Amino acid sequence: MREIELEKELERIRNDESYARTLTGIPEGKLTEDCQQVFDYYRKELTENIEAELNRYRSWNKKAESGVPKRYAGCCFGNYHARNESERKWKQSVIDFVETEENDGVLLMTGARGTGKTHLGVSAVRALKGHYVNMEDLIYKVESSLNFKSPQTEEEIFKFYTEVDFLVIDEIGRSLKREKETEILSYILRKRYDNQLPVIVISNLDKEVLVKMLGGAVKDRLDEVAVSIEFKGDSYRILKRKAA
Ligand SMILES: Nc1ncnc2c1ncn2[C@@H]1O[C@H](COP(=O)(O)OP(=O)(O)O)[C@@H](O)[C@H]1O
Ligand SMILES: [Mg+2]
Repeated sequence: MREIELEKELERIRNDESYARTLTGIPEGKLTEDCQQVFDYYRKELTENIEAELNRYRSWNKKAESGVPKRYAGCCFGNYHARNESERKWKQSVIDFVETEENDGVLLMTGARGTGKTHLGVSAVRALKGHYVNMEDLIYKVESSLNFKSPQTEEEIFKFYTEVDFLVIDEIGRSLKREKETEILSYILRKRYDNQLPVIVISNLDKEVLVKMLGGAVKDRLDEVAVSIEFKGDSYRILKRKAA
């Protein structure tokens, strides 16, 4: 079960006695003291198991394997505060994407700096115990894999990014190595499309520029499976500084 579903399940077991009875196999009706104890025991065990699983989600972005930078490790949907209707919509679109069953789509998030794209991207990583990488690091990893001393081969790196269950690629279009960037990105997007795996692609470029940069081969596929959000408005960073 995913984080959001686990939270709902936990609420229900805590608050809905008859649901908890069904799960623990204790029939409806008045309970003897012994039965009550057994029921309480099983109910507690159920909630503790769910809490343990929820904690695995909540601590996911603090782990190196999530790839999330320390600065963003605390970001989640819960602490993304929508200040207006647009922000509510953006947040909901990312939640919808995350909640889609058997998702094989692409979510493009483009727009101005400081508008919460990375915050929502890493929230999605946490919600699906996925992986985050920024484009510059990805290029660096691929390039340094060509060094014979590298612990990972280029093939292993591509295998990881094309097969990991959920991936967010951030900061596209920032690197000066445009050709390399397009080459790596189109390969990963093509392979993930073939493997029917979801990906979120984040960039400060305009959507049209981004799609053009990704190239023709990817564009057709994007038309088929992509949802896009264009972030506009004031930078949250500046607002945060003003409020401080
Ligand atoms: N709606 C929001 N609610 C809470 N924090 C936000 C929100 N939007 C942005 N932030 C915070 O503002 C900072 C800049 O956001 P960020 O996600 O890095 O923007 P972008 O990736 O679009 O440049 C981050 O610290 C982020 O957590
Ligand atoms: Mg960002």
